[in-house]
Amino acid sequence: MNETHIRWPHKDLLDVDQLDRQDVAVLLEQAANFQEINQRPVKKVPVLRGKSVVLFFAEPSTRTKTSFDVAGKRLSADTFSLGKGDSSLTKGESLKDTSLTLQAMAPDVIVIRHSSSGAAQFLAERLDCGVINAGDGWHAHPTQALLDCFSLSQVWGEQFTGKCLLIVGDITHSRVARSNIILLSRLGVRLRVCAPRTLLPMAVAGWPVEVHDNLDAAVRDADAVMCLRLQLERQQAGLLPDLAEYSRRFCLGPRHMELAKPDARILHPGPINRGLDVSAALADSPQSLILDQVASGVAMRMALLFLMATRNDGGAEV
Ligand code: CP
Repeated sequence: MNETHIRWPHKDLLDVDQLDRQDVAVLLEQAANFQEINQRPVKKVPVLRGKSVVLFFAEPSTRTKTSFDVAGKRLSADTFSLGKGDSSLTKGESLKDTSLTLQAMAPDVIVIRHSSSGAAQFLAERLDCGVINAGDGWHAHPTQALLDCFSLSQVWGEQFTGKCLLIVGDITHSRVARSNIILLSRLGVRLRVCAPRTLLPMAVAGWPVEVHDNLDAAVRDADAVMCLRLQLERQQAGLLPDLAEYSRRFCLGPRHMELAKPDARILHPGPINRGLDVSAALADSPQSLILDQVASGVAMRMALLFLMATRNDGGAEV
């Protein structure tokens, strides 16, 4: 890797709207460097030796938590995990006291996932260490949007302007959709969303997206399709009368991809409901980037941990 000094101005990462094009370019370049390390026989470098990262996940996670843990360890940081069930949150300790307690152990970065929108900002305003939002309520999932951007850059190169991405599924409950729409629209991607009216938020009218409720029309000539997980645990309000009908109208299948561009790719942040969000055949097809997204997640989170944990060390050195 080249010896360079990188300016990284952000103490915290709360959502992608705080990042300018230069920040995104730095992250994509650093993620590409770390992706190369992830393909070596020995996947470890000493750049964060002596740094510590707390993974505070008060909501379940497979991909985000594990990839932050792997990312930290590959950079030689010490990583420590705290989940809701094994924390004193279950005894009634407040989020403020829990986070001040974690800070007293002098971590360099705290990564937080929480069911409440604004939880990451709440910590960032109170703690001296860096805070990374790993998903807060329905609000934001900035590291997912950044890793999706990195996955797309590996297919599209630097040419995002004019590409068309369709996001299909449960838009209302999706922090992934919100962060991706902010980030990719700023990079010049044309965005479409497709969902039943009951799974589109009122605010969609003000977003930089075309809105569809017919998947055949929405997918036409798209360069990529991002399927979202139907959040079955949040469907108590009767937003969907019938799952079979939802699957028939909104599950992405091979028939739809024939209407997209011939080289169109499929993304899904996971976890997948096969046969509801995307057909099993497409999820496992060569068009699918789903597992590439997981690999991109490790590289992008290495880039973020590296930049944030070294920002006060007189310039990050790679
Ligand atoms: N995409 C994503 O956030 O997955 P996990 O919930 O498994 O972390």
